[in-house]
Amino acid sequence: MGVLEGRVAIVTGAARGVGAGIARAFAKEGARVVVVDLDEEGAAGVVAELTPYAEALALRCDIRDSAQVDACVASVVARFGSVDVLVNNAIDAVSARFEETTDDELDRVLDTGPKATLYFMRACFAHLRDSGYGGRVINLRSGSEPQGLAGFGAYVASKAAVAGLTRVAAREWGRHGITVNNLAPFVLSEGARSYFDERPEELEKIILKTMSVPRLGDAEHDVGRAAVYLAGPDASYVTGVTLSVDGGGSFFS
Ligand SMILES: NC(=O)c1ccc[n+]([C@@H]2O[C@H](COP(=O)([O-])OP(=O)(O)OC[C@H]3O[C@@H](n4cnc5c(N)ncnc54)[C@H](O)[C@@H]3O)[C@@H](O)[C@H]2O)c1
Repeated sequence: MGVLEGRVAIVTGAARGVGAGIARAFAKEGARVVVVDLDEEGAAGVVAELTPYAEALALRCDIRDSAQVDACVASVVARFGSVDVLVNNAIDAVSARFEETTDDELDRVLDTGPKATLYFMRACFAHLRDSGYGGRVINLRSGSEPQGLAGFGAYVASKAAVAGLTRVAAREWGRHGITVNNLAPFVLSEGARSYFDERPEELEKIILKTMSVPRLGDAEHDVGRAAVYLAGPDASYVTGVTLSVDGGGSFFS
């Protein structure tokens, strides 16, 4: 029996990349997984992969819209009866020089970052509180944030705000049996590839010079397994932390 047997998990942005890896790892541990994304075709493909292991559902939701988030969570509860695990993973990432960042770029990354994270956490709170397993929230953070990575001002601001939400909710929700943690991955996802394809030398430099374990991470077997730990019974006393799964590329203090 899998360690997440019986749990219902929402993973946003799970049509590809890190989110899809987490969804696969969860399903293989028996969780019923809801793949939330704007990309319906990608989400349906991931659900087809998950169903040999556990029930899964694809839901189209634009996470920038709180009414859609509320409706999405209501659909999950109507279908499965609860929400035990919430993974705020989706992002519309942008890279731009600080002084050239546009209003639209700032909105994209803040709307899909801290705002969507708060919408989902707010909509799921009562269900996480009432979960028979102890509710779990996992928010995706980034090693670019403590590094202050050049070219990522709006993105770093978004991730810093998500980290702040994690800390506050960890304090407020521990008494309700809910843990709230961050995961900081490094995976050559579709999103990351679109950036590094134009800068292959930068990727090589990161892997060889800044990573302690000099290889790329795997979305399912590295990041997904860490998410299974945070979502599962062994992590009930772990809250408010950032678990880096990035080959030691960044050290959070
Ligand atoms: N890939 C990495 O190495 C890395 C490093 C640090 C942090 N992260 C974090 O991990 C998470 C996943 O990253 P990734 O590289 O897999 O991203 P990605 O760009 O490959 O995938 C993001 C997913 O989010 C979905 N999405 C975007 N906007 C949406 C919206 N408005 N509504 C619903 N879905 C939407 C996309 O359709 C896509 O499926 C992000 O939070 C990212 O900041 C990733």
